[in-house]
Amino acid sequence: MLINKKTISLKNGLTINLKSPEPKDAAQLLAHLQVVFRESYRNMNHPSGHFDNFPVDKEAEILQSFADSQNQFMISAFERDRIIGNLGCFGKVGEFLKHSAHIGMGINQEFCGAGLGKAMLNYAIESAKTMGIHRLELTVRAFNQPGIKLYEKCGFEKVGRLKDMAFIDGEFHDELYYQLIL
Ligand SMILES: CC(C)(COP(=O)(O)OP(=O)(O)OC[C@H]1O[C@@H](n2cnc3c(N)ncnc32)[C@H](O)[C@@H]1OP(=O)(O)O)[C@@H](O)C(=O)NCCC(=O)NCCS
Repeated sequence: MLINKKTISLKNGLTINLKSPEPKDAAQLLAHLQVVFRESYRNMNHPSGHFDNFPVDKEAEILQSFADSQNQFMISAFERDRIIGNLGCFGKVGEFLKHSAHIGMGINQEFCGAGLGKAMLNYAIESAKTMGIHRLELTVRAFNQPGIKLYEKCGFEKVGRLKDMAFIDGEFHDELYYQLIL
């Protein structure tokens, strides 16, 4: 599903448009993902460089499949034409599970801490409700304080700890498992 444009102001006064990226935005989205995976790979599921050679046409196909889906969407943060943040809401597959979706998100470091994460997540929660999604879930590394703060401030409840879930740079790290019933 495509999410309509919503204009917000960050704490630093910057104006940002939140809306679904479309297939024509594939190159912009990849440029953003390359930055986030370079800056914050320890918070991600793949190493730095994961998106460096990702084909633009394949990304455009993925964006089209999100647009066509009934239980998944993306919301990107556009600073003019540049994508500086992205959130994915990945609906689960299976008749008994499709009311449930997983959230993942990331923002370019220079735009963190200005209220963008909260605005993106609150818009995603509102959009998920409108789509009839009943339950959101996510995981966050136990060391990721900005992420933990954001999810708790947006109403997510911690329901468990996934021991040694990630192995990064030679060390195991726990993840916290959060859910929100809409
Ligand atoms: C995690 C992330 C999405 C948070 O987004 P953000 O725009 O920085 O967060 P916001 O500015 O909206 O802040 C949300 C809340 O968390 C708190 N917070 C943000 N950064 C914080 C920090 N470094 N330390 C403590 N609290 C913090 C804020 O106080 C805010 O609460 P408030 O509005 O009531 O004051 C962003 O930092 C990010 O993309 N990081 C890199 C990638 C990543 O970690 N993704 C998530 C993987 S699970």
